Amino acid sequence: MTAAQSPAPQARGPQQGRETWTSNRGFILAAIGSAVGLGNIWRFPGVAYEGGGGAFLIPYLIALVTAGIPILFLDYAVGHRFRAAAPLAFRRMWRRAEALGWFQTAILFVISTYYAVIIAWSLSYFYYSFGTKWGERPDEFFTGDYLRVGEAGVSGELVGTVAWPLIGVWALIIVILALGVAKGVEKLNVIGLPLLVLGFAALVIKAVTLPGASDGLNALFTPQWDKLSDLNVWIAAYSQIFFSMSIAFGIMISYASFQKRKSNMTSSGLVVGFANSSFELLAGIGVFSALGFLAHEQGKTYEQLDGLTGPILSFVTFPRVISEMPGSAFFGALFFGSLAIAGFTSLISLMLGVSVAFQEKFGLSRTSASVTVGVVAAIVSFGLFATTTGLLALDTVDQFANNIGIVVSAIAMCVIAVWVARTIETLRAHLNAVSTFKLGWWWVPVIGVYAPLFLTVMLVQKIYDLIVDGYEDLPTWYVGVFGWGTVGFLFVFAAVLTAVGWKGRDDPSFTPWPIVGSGPSSAESKESVR
Ligand code: PHE
Repeated sequence: MTAAQSPAPQARGPQQGRETWTSNRGFILAAIGSAVGLGNIWRFPGVAYEGGGGAFLIPYLIALVTAGIPILFLDYAVGHRFRAAAPLAFRRMWRRAEALGWFQTAILFVISTYYAVIIAWSLSYFYYSFGTKWGERPDEFFTGDYLRVGEAGVSGELVGTVAWPLIGVWALIIVILALGVAKGVEKLNVIGLPLLVLGFAALVIKAVTLPGASDGLNALFTPQWDKLSDLNVWIAAYSQIFFSMSIAFGIMISYASFQKRKSNMTSSGLVVGFANSSFELLAGIGVFSALGFLAHEQGKTYEQLDGLTGPILSFVTFPRVISEMPGSAFFGALFFGSLAIAGFTSLISLMLGVSVAFQEKFGLSRTSASVTVGVVAAIVSFGLFATTTGLLALDTVDQFANNIGIVVSAIAMCVIAVWVARTIETLRAHLNAVSTFKLGWWWVPVIGVYAPLFLTVMLVQKIYDLIVDGYEDLPTWYVGVFGWGTVGFLFVFAAVLTAVGWKGRDDPSFTPWPIVGSGPSSAESKESVR
């Protein structure tokens, strides 16, 4: 079908009444809200430090430009052209690609079940900041008094201090999901994101003025050039970009699917990408200034500090910083409040992706999908991660879902779009027809050749390491169940949901918007609409 022969671009079937963001600004805010999360605050600073400090900015920026931004555009193109969450959008691109959409949905589901728990911890610690309840030994407090950590295993024993705030997190998520895209998700971001930026900026300003801050910043930014020859540093840079930008998870597909027809997609993508990286740098400055202060107060050198990333950075090292500080309650509240808001605006994006996928496949209403999906995720979240064995399970599941799941997803997405469904030129023409920043020819080889090759190297290396070295000295059975079990779950979930028949909105008459404006209109004739 050529552009000229295409039927008028009327909305039809399920498209009729598809929700939209109220404006492009709403979309951009929501997309930044999804991207800016725990990954920016607790992951980036430590990864950058270990990856060569100032020198790490080189692989990081290369990863941003050669994978982050191009794959973000691919997500946008698929979502905006095929107007659905990942499973249906991929199905419309190429019938069999539906499975990839469910694979991504499975990753979202898994991540959301533990991400919510970290938000619950942050809420508890927000409260504990008033009065520095963690006392003299924040390490013992976190794993002992607060989480009551048990041996590596599975215990059904709920930890009340985690479970209570967790109920609040899930209740709020379900309500916001049920309110929908414009009234729920967009509103949350319109309120949450400015609050986050203000609160976090205040925190960083305070942090850089502390004694010792400059030592921390020197530690973060002094380049160690020799690290650049280490493949693992490059892999860390690419992983950071993927997780941080929320790409190849299907989230940006559903977010883009709620954009109106005339939406400046690529320019918005550039804004989102650079905003996310800027926040990441800001977090690096804030966190390392605070760590410099801690070393200064404790009369240590910077190298003697430990616990520089992840949960330990936030819930052990940071409480130490807070305790050392005059006016600490305020600083603590800013830090844990920022963590909670940043996490919440990301969690909503994870759950929206899952909920819309189920609405479309099973013809569910928004409310029933939100409640069903929310309750199931909440139950898993309580059962696995709010228990005395939750911390370890969380760490292991996170490692495998992110390092293996997401890389498999990204490779499959690139290969299918370019080599199997052969829709990449259409997607490029589509983006160029609606956007002011035009994608040149370079986008196709980046998506079709460079990204999948590099990601494959990355995947092989990671799998090899995990098989040979295991994970974190954990017992093999444990890594088998929680680590490889997670990967297995992703595949099984994808297979089962693909096999189930469509009850909902697989509208055979779906027609993508015709590509008018710029770009080769012949590109569209290469595509068959399935
Ligand atoms: N990008 C978010 C962060 O940096 C995490 C996230 C990943 C959110 C995937 C949604 C999807 O923390």
